[in-house]
Amino acid sequence: MSNSVFPKNFLWGGATAANQFEGAWNVDGKGPSTSDMLSGGTHTVPRRITRTIEDGVHYPSHEAIDFYHRYKEDIKLFAEMGFKTFRLSINWTRIFPTGMEQEPNEAGLKFYDDVFDELKKYNIEPLVTISHYEMPFGLTQEYNGWAGREVIEHFMRYAETLFTRYKDKVKYWLTFNEINCGTVPFGGYLALGILNEGTQDFLHQVDDPQLRFQALHHQFVASAKAVALGHEINPDFKIGCMIAYMTAYPYTCNPDDILLAQDHMNMRNNFCGDIHVRGEYPYYAKRYFAENNIKLDIKEGDLEVIKQGTVDYYTFSYYMSNCVSADPTLDNTSGNINGGVKNPYLEASDWGWQIDPKGLRYSLNEIYGRYQIPLMVVENGLGAFDKVEDDGSINDSYRIDYLKSHIEQMGEALKDGVELWGYTPWGCIDLVSASTGEMEKRYGFIYVDKDNKGQGTLDRKRKASFFWYQKVIESQGEQL
Ligand code: BG6
Repeated sequence: MSNSVFPKNFLWGGATAANQFEGAWNVDGKGPSTSDMLSGGTHTVPRRITRTIEDGVHYPSHEAIDFYHRYKEDIKLFAEMGFKTFRLSINWTRIFPTGMEQEPNEAGLKFYDDVFDELKKYNIEPLVTISHYEMPFGLTQEYNGWAGREVIEHFMRYAETLFTRYKDKVKYWLTFNEINCGTVPFGGYLALGILNEGTQDFLHQVDDPQLRFQALHHQFVASAKAVALGHEINPDFKIGCMIAYMTAYPYTCNPDDILLAQDHMNMRNNFCGDIHVRGEYPYYAKRYFAENNIKLDIKEGDLEVIKQGTVDYYTFSYYMSNCVSADPTLDNTSGNINGGVKNPYLEASDWGWQIDPKGLRYSLNEIYGRYQIPLMVVENGLGAFDKVEDDGSINDSYRIDYLKSHIEQMGEALKDGVELWGYTPWGCIDLVSASTGEMEKRYGFIYVDKDNKGQGTLDRKRKASFFWYQKVIESQGEQL
């Protein structure tokens, strides 16, 4: 008998996103998505957003790790690790190549049928993100992405197609990946498909907060409509939201820092969560909108739709925490979606993301205390350089240390009384980095032979963390 604090039916697994690992960007009728227009970059060289596909430019999503043709091999490896669940997203442009077709592309639908059937073979429960950092580029060209209200209807046709087709194959759904990325300028193109005149690179987009929050409003309406429709199509569906949890600590006990951190937690994290879970715009948004000159065009019925389409569970990504300070002279560091002030008590990854396992316990309690609905950590992990030894082994002890300490803190949160359904570490197989487009920022338990320039055999190799995670799952989180 196991004494594990992790429940027996805990969903251990891993997470991916279509545009970062499928490849086959123009195969079997697939259209170009926003992510297909992003060139490769590095930690120091920003990715470019090209308006057409340019000759001689490396676009990492085009081949990625070619899961499209290797899904059987990859799923077999996930099964070998003992995965109970696998988080993947559907590439909207495989189903509706420009987003505006009335009829779906059968070849695209068939591909996901095959993937779900393969997962079923190993009793792996799919956890499906409907939109993960890509949308048809056609919708960006036609409507400037989610800035156009028309996109709600196009999205609903897409969501309905998925819910109907996979109603007996998928139970766990997420509407938008890291929807709160749209609260910061970086999310303009990444999360909302907005491409303003003059924007050339990914890190320095021409930002229009009015447009960005209007686009987010359209996503809230679309998400809520999808939740309601999904429940109609199959009442057993569990449909959740996904938030990039950007944990912010006040740098000091100076009340200015405390207020700033509270403000940050509200507008960066709670704002989207409150709308998804409580079904209404939170009180503090009014002042933010007024001070930032944002006037939302909310149509009749929108607020009722949002009220009726609240989510069944809350999922989030957690990589790190940051500090917030009213003192502008302090040193900053980078991070997932948003950076912040360096925390002197924490170490950081090679990309400057601060490693804070206890921050995960803190965040789980913050979120659960606020909403009291089931949670899942659907992204977490360490982006690092890996070295293949002469004997072919990859000894990623740093990754094991990172994941181990975060799993321990999830255990503490479970003891605190948090209802936690599952854990899917990010990039369980090496894939393309969303922020930099690199391959060599690796998160996986499975190594993929490919470098930043796109060279490599694409062969898969088990890392030391593969065997470690296998034991973790087997022992229900007892053997770390
Ligand atoms: C999250 C995204 O922000 O972080 C993923 O949902 C992304 O798509 C992950 O890949 C890690 O970030 P990065 O930039 O290291 O790939």
